[in-house]
Amino acid sequence: MRIAMIGTGYVGLVSGVCFSDFGHDVICVDKANQKIDMLKAGRVPIYEPGLDVLMAKNVAAGRLSFTTDLADAVDGADAVFIAVGTPTRRGDGHADLTYVMAAAEEIANAVTGYTVIVTKSTVPVGTNRQVQEVVAAANPKADFDVASNPEFLREGAAIDDFMRPDRVVVGVENDRAAEVMAEIYRPLYLRDFPILTTDLESAEMIKYAANAFLATKITFINEIAGLCEKVGADVKEVSRGMGLDGRIGNKFLHAGPGYGGSCFPKDTAALARIGQDHAHPMQITETVIRVNDEVKKRMIEKIREACDDRFNGKIIAVLGVTFKPNTDDMRDAPSLSIVPALIGGGAKVRVVDPQGKSEGEALLPGVDWCDDPYAAAKGADLLVLLTEWNEFRALNLSDLAAAMSTPRMVDLRNIYSESKTLKAGFETYVGVGR
Ligand SMILES: NC(=O)c1ccc[n+]([C@@H]2O[C@H](COP(=O)([O-])OP(=O)(O)OC[C@H]3O[C@@H](n4cnc5c(N)ncnc54)[C@H](O)[C@@H]3O)[C@@H](O)[C@H]2O)c1
Repeated sequence: MRIAMIGTGYVGLVSGVCFSDFGHDVICVDKANQKIDMLKAGRVPIYEPGLDVLMAKNVAAGRLSFTTDLADAVDGADAVFIAVGTPTRRGDGHADLTYVMAAAEEIANAVTGYTVIVTKSTVPVGTNRQVQEVVAAANPKADFDVASNPEFLREGAAIDDFMRPDRVVVGVENDRAAEVMAEIYRPLYLRDFPILTTDLESAEMIKYAANAFLATKITFINEIAGLCEKVGADVKEVSRGMGLDGRIGNKFLHAGPGYGGSCFPKDTAALARIGQDHAHPMQITETVIRVNDEVKKRMIEKIREACDDRFNGKIIAVLGVTFKPNTDDMRDAPSLSIVPALIGGGAKVRVVDPQGKSEGEALLPGVDWCDDPYAAAKGADLLVLLTEWNEFRALNLSDLAAAMSTPRMVDLRNIYSESKTLKAGFETYVGVGR
């Protein structure tokens, strides 16, 4: 198959690289010249484990290339994937479809021969039909079908998720489009990964429902964590006791500083908005959004308490600012609400993050970036563990405690324990829900 991938961000690049590894001919397109220049030079603009090696392999095999010329990439393609951003529209919570529709119009003017136009971006129900209308209006002669193919990869484990998915969801309207999609995903189909073929609307809904459900699960355990603190229970034990129940499962049951990232906040907001538009309020999702905001505020209070109720004049070392480990993505990371609150209160904040600096520098003005946790801890009044990078899981606690002015830790990922930290010389350990 010849594939054009429009949008070469976290999803477009990973999908393009993986499709080329399936054996397809893939051209990845982006409007950002700088990104394409980097890719052409063999450099990966994002941090995603394993992506550089897989990309180099497929470029060398002649199956993968990069361009800013959308028309050139679309010309003669069997399938054109739209993988552009769908951020929250300012003011109303809707998914902003400007980039999707602009791409659809450009694709319409460039298609030659039968083409399946596939939306991989996360989009509200009805968007694929809108894409269909936009393309038909822009080019009445275009021979095409639309397909919905939402993406479920997790940043940090994106290649494995793409290559070994729990399922692939394909929304189509006819057999012709279904056959092209089946050919594209044949390597997965042959290895018995479930390929779920549905109508367009169901495919679009599956993505929002899945993300809202996961956000709900995280928020549920975060709310339970708050109650654990009041009643003297340990949320880690509670999560374990719940997660061993096969009906519940242990994933997404780790209490922490609230969900963030490039998907959950915007997708829950969009789902809530879709419900309002259809006079069917998504009450659970709306509550989840509100509770998640409260969770983040509670984290700030937790840190304040650990600082003798004032940030002013304190030196705080923050470990991890990306929204989760193994990515450089800072979009809607909890750190973006927490760190400015510390600085706003007068604290001096030092940050350590294995990959977050290039994105984070502009988003977290006023922090000092340090290379390692021990340098950040030197003379600090408090250490806050915010993102659970592997690098932070086996720290030498005695060295950290010895380096600090007042050895106190707020562990927002429950990596360590009170007994261990106190034994190592910390005077205070504060976790979440314990
Ligand atoms: N990031 C994730 O983990 C993830 C997971 C599943 C689904 N999604 C969804 O996938 C979509 C893309 O997300 P992302 O994180 O990859 O976004 P991103 O912002 O990293 O990348 C989008 C890219 O599209 C490019 N672009 C925009 N308009 C273009 C056009 N007309 N022509 C060419 N390029 C164009 C931008 O320059 C940018 O590089 C979103 O809808 C998102 O919700 C993301």
